[in-house]
Amino acid sequence: MRSMVVTTLGGPEALHLEERPSPALEPQSVRIEVHAAGVNFADSLLLRGRYQVRPRPPFAPGLEIAGVVRDVGAATSVRRVGERVIGVMRYGGFADEVVMPEENTYPLPDGMDFTTGAAFPVAYGTAHGALSWKAALQADETCLVLGAAGGVGLAGVEIAAAMGAQVIAAAGSDEKLAICREHGASVGINYQTDRVRTRLPDLAANGVDVVLDTVGGDAGDDALRRLAWDGRIVTVGFTAGRIPAFPANRLLLQNAAVHGLYWGEVAALDPQRVGRSFARLGEWYGEGRLRPRVATVLPLADAAHGIELLLSRAVSGKVVLDCRR
Ligand SMILES: NC(=O)c1ccc[n+]([C@@H]2O[C@H](COP(=O)([O-])OP(=O)(O)OC[C@H]3O[C@@H](n4cnc5c(N)ncnc54)[C@H](OP(=O)(O)O)[C@@H]3O)[C@@H](O)[C@H]2O)c1
Repeated sequence: MRSMVVTTLGGPEALHLEERPSPALEPQSVRIEVHAAGVNFADSLLLRGRYQVRPRPPFAPGLEIAGVVRDVGAATSVRRVGERVIGVMRYGGFADEVVMPEENTYPLPDGMDFTTGAAFPVAYGTAHGALSWKAALQADETCLVLGAAGGVGLAGVEIAAAMGAQVIAAAGSDEKLAICREHGASVGINYQTDRVRTRLPDLAANGVDVVLDTVGGDAGDDALRRLAWDGRIVTVGFTAGRIPAFPANRLLLQNAAVHGLYWGEVAALDPQRVGRSFARLGEWYGEGRLRPRVATVLPLADAAHGIELLLSRAVSGKVVLDCRR
């Protein structure tokens, strides 16, 4: 099997292609021929040893895959050889073959190709967990998505729109905001040229009901200042580099709540909950309400370039690796 491995923690350039014998099949595991693997911002953190999960090198990053089941362990009960699946991993997905627990695999939604399938689990699972499990977003509420053109962000825009909310996208360029509008946002804030807190009063006079925050920093601070009564912030990431603080008095005054979501850990601890989420998202996909945007598909060996594209903020939507190339 081929995989993109890091032997010394560092930047994307630390990744290199390795060929090694296929891993043994455990009783509760399945062997998957990986067709595509999604690239996530978290992969850049994993490589540097700065993610919540800190595997010791050598290891392959990669949190999500799509492919075909080629073998099933003796104690498995659900997956069948030849089935098309998606999978959620702690790491190890940048490979053309994986052996992983059956419980972390799910059917590829009907009508979805492998490339889209690899772009789907982390971004859509996280955004759905944030907006549904945590924020309990209601139709007709206002939802502000920070980092709205990123993987999780654009999924959040689509899911919030599918849930009937009015979506305000905040991103770092007008081009990115135009893409957010194509995916369901009704208005946008370019936080490179405007402060979120200055623009929001015009866009949501009573404040925003729900904030999906993937960036933190100034935008995260600003969102707290413009929360509606009963508002909810769900914090999922800090790509801006600074973790916002949430003064308790501001939460009290707006009768508001801040939720943290560590979706990757939910996926490990409660895979069935994630399965129910994927089933709902698969229905919405089938109805054409979700249109995952894959910006770039790269050969497996170009995984480092894929991560660099995310770090340079050059991407709207997802980067996917074609693991058959
Ligand atoms: N808690 C969880 O369970 C969970 C699950 C998935 C992801 N996450 C986290 O959520 C965040 C987003 O993940 P993702 O995979 O969606 O990332 P992504 O696709 O790379 O998107 C991140 C967005 O952040 C914005 N950004 C702002 N400052 C940035 C900077 N200095 N460098 C890079 N991007 C910057 C970029 O948009 P602009 O250029 O428009 O600002 C970009 O679109 C990450 O922090 C990730 O670790 C958490």
